[in-house]
Amino acid sequence: MGETCPFGTDVQRYWDKRFEYFLRFNDGIKIDKEGLYSVTPEKIALEIAEHTKGDVIVDAFGGVGGNAIAFARTGKKVYCIELDEDRKSFIEHNAKVYGVDDLIHTIQGDFFAKASTVSAKTVFLDPPWGGPSYKESGSFKLNNFSPDGTKILDYAFLNFDEVVLMVPTIFDFSEIEKFDKQYDLQDNVINGEIISQTIYFS
Ligand SMILES: C[S@@+](CC[C@H](N)C(=O)[O-])C[C@H]1O[C@@H](n2cnc3c(N)ncnc32)[C@H](O)[C@@H]1O
Repeated sequence: MGETCPFGTDVQRYWDKRFEYFLRFNDGIKIDKEGLYSVTPEKIALEIAEHTKGDVIVDAFGGVGGNAIAFARTGKKVYCIELDEDRKSFIEHNAKVYGVDDLIHTIQGDFFAKASTVSAKTVFLDPPWGGPSYKESGSFKLNNFSPDGTKILDYAFLNFDEVVLMVPTIFDFSEIEKFDKQYDLQDNVINGEIISQTIYFS
């Protein structure tokens, strides 16, 4: 039997995948319940980092650093914004575990307030999907993101040249037609299963 999840049985299935999330999990990775169910698995985060063109990235919704660490491992400089003070400190700690803390500058606060304080042309957006039960709605709309995805994308298109958004597999793509933007789509695959998709707007 596997190790019992310290954050409750409702997220045991995420805990069982902790080494998919961070290969070096046992080297002292720090995580909390929300960080556990929302982190981008290491393999996928690296694929996104390789596909992203810019060298200086704003990671708008840092979480526990899954994406920020991958961006830094591919040599990019990252301004990593996170609202939650504890998770912001976990990003700093986890970046040290991977030896990339010199490339990640963390900022605690709201993306809309903090993004304009740094200079970058690329923004990576992985906003909360509303918790582990997000699939219950059947189809995922921009207003299921929190903050609202329309507000996030309006802001991003106004302030950045390259916009990268991660969405659930049940995302309703008709939602982004109103922005009239071209985009590439990447399937995020783990063990043969598409677990999310990444939209690269151009
Ligand atoms: C889906 S998680 C990001 C996971 C991250 N990509 C990772 O791999 O660890 C979303 C994060 O956005 C943070 N967040 C929510 N609203 C925010 C805001 N307005 N500005 C900045 N961060 C916010 C949450 O606290 C949460 O940690």
